[in-house]
Amino acid sequence: MAVETFDLVRRFQDFVAVDNLNLTVRRGSFFGFLGPNGAGKSTTIKMLTGLLGPTSGRIRVLGRDIATVPLEVKSRIGVVPEDLNLFERLTGAEMLAFTGRMYGLNKAEIAERLPELLDLMELRNEPKKLIVEYSHGMKKKLCLACALIHRPEILFLDEPFEGVDAIASRTLKDLLSRLTARGLTVFLTSHVLEIVERLCTDIAIISQGKLLAAGSLDELRKGIQLEDDGQQTDLSGQHAGPISLEEYFIYIVGGERSTGEEEVLQWLG
Ligand SMILES: Nc1ncnc2c1ncn2[C@@H]1O[C@H](COP(=O)(O)OP(=O)(O)OP(=O)(O)O)[C@@H](O)[C@H]1O
Ligand SMILES: [Mg+2]
Repeated sequence: MAVETFDLVRRFQDFVAVDNLNLTVRRGSFFGFLGPNGAGKSTTIKMLTGLLGPTSGRIRVLGRDIATVPLEVKSRIGVVPEDLNLFERLTGAEMLAFTGRMYGLNKAEIAERLPELLDLMELRNEPKKLIVEYSHGMKKKLCLACALIHRPEILFLDEPFEGVDAIASRTLKDLLSRLTARGLTVFLTSHVLEIVERLCTDIAIISQGKLLAAGSLDELRKGIQLEDDGQQTDLSGQHAGPISLEEYFIYIVGGERSTGEEEVLQWLG
């Protein structure tokens, strides 16, 4: 398995952000980790990548316990965290080279990979620009390049499409599909459910720190059908054909927070 968690818990004081999470991510899968704002996705990714310690529970990444051999695990994964941890006084090329050295690559490997990664992310035009002067999307792309330079076995991406332009987004989708076809495992969070639906082989949905559903989209759909005694689910009243991931997500997560739209925001007109 690429990732396994066993009763993983993270508290912040009294608040339980991740609540007894048991996740399984197959090697080579394209795993979409979904949930509403504040569900605990980023907190989970930080724990899986060793950026944050769990309150309790265990994590195995690539068959190894991250608490016991953190460096070994970290050397084999790449991560784009939500808060893009870049050194802002460096240029993009300097940051990439530094990252490569940290992962133990030699000069020749860095010299080969660095320009290709900068090209791929379209960050080559302004070589003197410091990261502090980068736009949000540029920072995100650089962070992704840094996460790839050591050829990781698992790539953890927290909202990789957020703030990235349509062309870069297409490049990224193609790249990720190519890499998973070659055996890389991708673990991503995204609110862009159309992309998740198209790319991901496996999906898990959490809300308030708890796992609500896990499986392929087809398995999730079957879960709904079972609940409805094997009937083809009719979520919208006039639904025909298989339900979309967005419909499934709203069905699973949205039920608990119906707002009664007409009653609120009356002052807004
Ligand atoms: N350092 C922290 N201190 C206190 N509470 C925190 C901390 N980090 C996260 N939380 C809380 O834990 C919960 C989960 O946060 P998290 O960032 O994991 O959500 P998320 O699923 O990534 O949401 P989003 O989709 O908005 O990125 C939230 O209620 C958040 O306020
Ligand atoms: Mg988040």
